[in-house]
Parts: sequence; structure tokens; C-alpha cells
Amino acid sequence: MSANPIGIFDSGLGGLSIWEALYDLMPEESMLYLADSKYAPYGQRPQSEIIQLCKKNMDYLLRQGCKIVVVACNTATTNAIEVLRQSYSVPIIGIEPAIKPAALNSKTGVVGVLATRGTLASSLFAKTAALYAKDRKVIEQFGDGLVNLIEAGEMESDQMRELLRKYLNPMIRAGIDYLVLGCTHYSFLRPQLEEILPKEVKIIDAANAVAKHTKSILEKHQLLNLGEEKPTLTFYTNKDSSIMRRFLSAHPANKIIEQIDF
Ligand code: DGL
Repeated sequence: MSANPIGIFDSGLGGLSIWEALYDLMPEESMLYLADSKYAPYGQRPQSEIIQLCKKNMDYLLRQGCKIVVVACNTATTNAIEVLRQSYSVPIIGIEPAIKPAALNSKTGVVGVLATRGTLASSLFAKTAALYAKDRKVIEQFGDGLVNLIEAGEMESDQMRELLRKYLNPMIRAGIDYLVLGCTHYSFLRPQLEEILPKEVKIIDAANAVAKHTKSILEKHQLLNLGEEKPTLTFYTNKDSSIMRRFLSAHPANKIIEQIDF
């Protein structure tokens, strides 16, 4: 057993959707979250840069004694997880677009995937899509601009609605019945997406699956926190922390939120 924190990182605020699922499942665990907002978005960067940024985040989390690291970013996972697993000995959990359940459950045989360019261009995404959705029509759409608006706290803006309509309309016309959110930032857009999508279209992400998987790996390595120590929830961003505070303000747990350099 270990009282050390679970480390979580994302290119910015998107991974907070994964943090929430982790917290709901394991409220007794300490967690340390890194929002690399200074370098967001990752999705339009070359793979070599994404790997470098991921290593910087990993090094920081490991210096703080994290017992496991959750890469709460599809772009980072699909571009860097293999290298990270080769470079570090701590267990590393990733997140990929939930294309498998969408393809399995689709009745129309058409599923939409909204993700970053970096995720859609990765060989890991191509492999997963070929494995689980080869007899399905998969409409891939990159979400250029969405992460920037979310990082700026502009989820409700007209510009956001306009971009979402532009990205979703071709999928709606093609008859999707599942929309896979292949970027952790997009989970914060559910209300806006629901406004645009027909009622019968289901929106899915992988947050709960990642939380369950993380718990099972902690169990397997006997790393769960079974002690009496009160857990601490720490959130670091390398950009102005006010937007992060806003994102977390509705959450009742006690938290430390700070801007630091990493
Ligand atoms: N949250 C990241 C993801 O899941 C955002 C990507 C980005 O920074 O472009 O892909």
C-alpha cells in the first residue's frame, strides 16, 4: 500500500474531467494534477515535441513521489505512451478515444470521432480504429480551435458554438448515432454538444473507464492508499490559475491550486 499521490497530467484543463472520475472512484487517494497550459494545445505539435513535453511533466510528477501516472490526454497518449513506458518504471495509464464501445453499440453503423489532429494522425489511433471499427463508417473530425477556447474559459461563446456546428453538421448528415469525444478537453462541452446533436446521438468519453483501469492497476501493484492519512488534492498550472479555479469551483473537496513553473 502507498499514500503517495496519483500523478495526472494534461496539456491543460481537459484532464480535470479525468481527475473528477478518479476522485469519484477513489476519494481516499491523494492526487497531484499538472496542467501544462503554457504549452497547450499539444494537438498541433509534432510528435517529437509532444514526447519532450510529456517527459518534462513525468519528471516533475516523479520528483514529487507519484506512485502511478495517468496521462489524461489523448494526444499525449497516442503520441508518446510507448516511449514513456520504455523510459519510466512507474505504472503509466493512458487514454484513447472510446471507439470500441461506440463501434460495438452503433445501430446506424456510423460513428463520429472528434479529436485533435495529433490524435487522429497517430498510428495508435489508426490501429485501434482498424481493430474495432473496420466494418463501421468512422467520421473523423479534428477540433482545431476548441482547446484554445476552453483554455480561455470560453465554452459559452458564439465562436465555440459556430465551430461546433461546423464540425458536427457533416457527422449529423452522415447519420452518426455515437459521438466519441477523443480529447479530454471536449468533455467540458457536453451541454453545447447536446444542444446541436439530435437527441438519439449518444456522446461518450473514456473518463470512467480510465478511472476503473487506474484503480485495478493500483490494486494489482498493491499501491492503493489503505491508511488513515487524509488525502491531499493539489493542482498546478504553469499559466494563470484563475481559469483553473473557475473550473474547480463547483467541486466541494478541499484543494490546493497554484501557478508554478514546470
Ligand atoms: N486534452 C488533450 C487531449 O485529450 C488536449 C489536446 C491538446 O492540447 O491539443 O487530446
